[in-house]
Amino acid sequence: MAVAAGRPPRTRFVCASCGAHSPRWEGRCPECEEWNSLSEELLPRAHKKELAAAPAAVTLLADAPADGRRLPTGYAEVDRVLGGGIVPGSVILLGGDPGVGKSTLALQIADRAARAGAAALYCSGEESGAQVGLRARRTGCKAAGIELLVENDLDTVLATIEARRPPLAIVDSVQTVYDAGVAGSAGSPAQVRAAVARLVAAAKGCGVAVLLVGHVTKDGAIAGPRTLEHLVDVVLYLEGDRLGDQRILRGVKNRFGSTGEVGLLAMESAGIRELDAPSRAFMDGASAGIAGNALTVTCEGVRPLAIEVQALTVGTQSPLPRRTVSGFDVNRLHLLLAVLEKRADIRLGQSDVFVNAVGGVRLDDPAADLAVALAIAGSKLNRTLPPSCAVVGEVGLGGEVRRVARLDARLAEAAALGLETVIVPANHRGHIPAGLQCRTVTTIRDAIRLLS
Ligand code: TYD
Ligand code: MG
Repeated sequence: MAVAAGRPPRTRFVCASCGAHSPRWEGRCPECEEWNSLSEELLPRAHKKELAAAPAAVTLLADAPADGRRLPTGYAEVDRVLGGGIVPGSVILLGGDPGVGKSTLALQIADRAARAGAAALYCSGEESGAQVGLRARRTGCKAAGIELLVENDLDTVLATIEARRPPLAIVDSVQTVYDAGVAGSAGSPAQVRAAVARLVAAAKGCGVAVLLVGHVTKDGAIAGPRTLEHLVDVVLYLEGDRLGDQRILRGVKNRFGSTGEVGLLAMESAGIRELDAPSRAFMDGASAGIAGNALTVTCEGVRPLAIEVQALTVGTQSPLPRRTVSGFDVNRLHLLLAVLEKRADIRLGQSDVFVNAVGGVRLDDPAADLAVALAIAGSKLNRTLPPSCAVVGEVGLGGEVRRVARLDARLAEAAALGLETVIVPANHRGHIPAGLQCRTVTTIRDAIRLLS
């Protein structure tokens, strides 16, 4: 776009990946060198130099208000991820793949908040009133206090929030609200960023807590730009296998609590419910005693979680055997396969290898290494772990089994689940719960000897 001589430009170009600005369009971001990531947006209105700003009043930090009353969501599992409920005036981004259950969870939170006396405003830009009504009937959301607004126009949504000032406003979704003052179609990076920035300003301005629903793009970022996560106070992801019923709500960022917390939920025919015996959900009793299966206890945030790992190795003639993972990092798998070959003589160069974490969960904890390695070795050698046994340990490049964080909590969880044996790294000096036997291993070779 040509800029009239003498007049300052009215728009700028912003990179969707790194947030860098450029006065003109370029094919490649000058900062992060991403191709085609610049999009146009209106410049914030410049302040006139001659209007010197008046100094603002300041307050003493010591007088800053303590953590005020939080709004309970009605789900203990969601509250624990939020750090004890929704903080008034905060902005929460709820991300997740399409169909995972974000709208259902948002509506049920609105219902439970309304039952607790905090009216909620549900702004739907994605679905019609009839569709939201259908979901409300299906999930038994009958609270009288829920107000519904079916609207795409951001100005109308903001005006309604500011006029009604509900304790909680839900915007479903950020990709469907449209700001007429910003170039691009609804859902484009510039639109989404503008919408979130204005909703944040409104939330802070009138003390309304705002829950924003956002779809996750293929590469895992909400609405493309990672920068969106910096604008809001709390970022939650709802994860899980869409066809299964377990769901994990993961706190990725939290200005009012610790991150890394997880909440365990289940999606059922009448909506989302909390799991009673959460950890048990990620074990499948029927698969115990099968070669290639191993149970591990991971620690997500402060919560230990028992998760079953399944591995399958199958001979292949292909020069490029397959390495297929679900819920596990494929690079970590390559590393474990290299260690198994070099340090334990388990050769998988002629085998396809499949690794799956049961229940659609993601295994990020390095303490799951040993369980994955033993599941692969078990499948290859056709041997099984002892019955009622969990495996915990990180595997190093030298084939050594390393100590892991929070082993005591993991052992306590294993004991609570009624397991009999836990394979742990050597030199553990912590408390071993009654009834639980610990078998210590120093190397991956030691651990493989425990397969029978
Ligand atoms: P939804 O909340 O619309 O997902 P999102 O907003 O993340 O796209 O949920 C979609 C799926 O959930 C849909 O396939 C049907 C299923 N579902 C249930 O299993 N039980 C329920 O009570 C509801 C409302 C939906
Ligand atoms: Mg939805």
